[in-house]
Amino acid sequence: MKGIILAGGTATRLFPLTATTSKQLLPVYDRQMIFYPLNTLIKAGVKEILVIVAPEHSGQFLNLLGSIFKNHGISLFFEVQKLPRGLADAFIMGENFIDQDSIAMILGDNIFEDDLSEAIKNFKSGGQVFAKKVTDPERFGVVKFDENEKAIEVVEKPKDFVSDWALTGLYCYDNRVVEIAKNLIPSDRGEIEVTDINKKYLEMGELTVKKIEGEWMDAGTFDSLLEAGNIVKEKGIYKKFDPLIDKAISEFNEELKNIAKKRLL
Ligand code: G1P
Repeated sequence: MKGIILAGGTATRLFPLTATTSKQLLPVYDRQMIFYPLNTLIKAGVKEILVIVAPEHSGQFLNLLGSIFKNHGISLFFEVQKLPRGLADAFIMGENFIDQDSIAMILGDNIFEDDLSEAIKNFKSGGQVFAKKVTDPERFGVVKFDENEKAIEVVEKPKDFVSDWALTGLYCYDNRVVEIAKNLIPSDRGEIEVTDINKKYLEMGELTVKKIEGEWMDAGTFDSLLEAGNIVKEKGIYKKFDPLIDKAISEFNEELKNIAKKRLL
C-alpha cells in the first residue's frame, strides 16, 4: 500500500499564520503538523508517500522533508496542486504514483491519538474509512449506521441531523478509486468530494467503517490549533511516534546545528 498526504490549500481561517507558511507546517507542540499524518502512514508500514502541496510553500516542504528520510527506507514524492479542486483530486493527481497499488490518503492536518496501523496494514479491498463521534457533525462528512452497526448512508456537511459519527480525514481504497475519482461530478461547493467516493463504495457494498475512540484533531482554527498542541503534550502523543521519525528529526536537527556552527566560524 502507498500513501498520499494532502497538504495543499490556503487555510484562510488561519491568516496571518498561513500567509507565510502552509497550515501543515505550523507547529503542533514540538514538531510540524505534517509529521503527525506522516507518522500515521509510516507506523502502518507505508514506505512510499506522495505529498501534495500548494505552490506558495512547496520550497518549505522540500527544505523540511526533501532528504529527512533518505537513510530510513521511506521515499517521499511531491506534487504541486495549483488550485484546490477537492479532496478526491488527490487520486487523480496521484494516478501515476498509485499505479496498480492500493492507497491510504490522509489529510495533512489530521492528528489521531489511536494507533491505526493494524487497520491500515490489514486493508485488502474496497474502501475503509474511520469515524469519530462528534458534537458538531454539520462541519464534517458523516456516516449513519443501522442497528447492526452497518454503514447505510454517508452525507457531506449535513444541514439536518443524520448522524453524529464524523468521517475523519483518513481513507483507504483499492485501485478502483482512481477511476471513481475521475468520474465524479463537482458538488455545490465546486469540489470533487471524497464523500462521493465513499458513497460509491457504499453502493457497491464495499465500504467498511471503523470507529475510533481516541482523540482526533484537525487544527483548522486558532483555538483548535492551540488545543491540538495541548492535547498532544498532555496525552503524550508526541512520545508515541515511530522511532524512525524521531531518529530522522534528531539527525535533521544535528545537521542544522552543524551548519549553524560553521556559519559562526
Ligand atoms: C473534509 C471532508 C469531510 C471530512 C473532513 C475531515 O472536509 O470533506 O468529509 O469529514 O474533511 O477533516 P473539509 O475539511 O474539506 O471541509
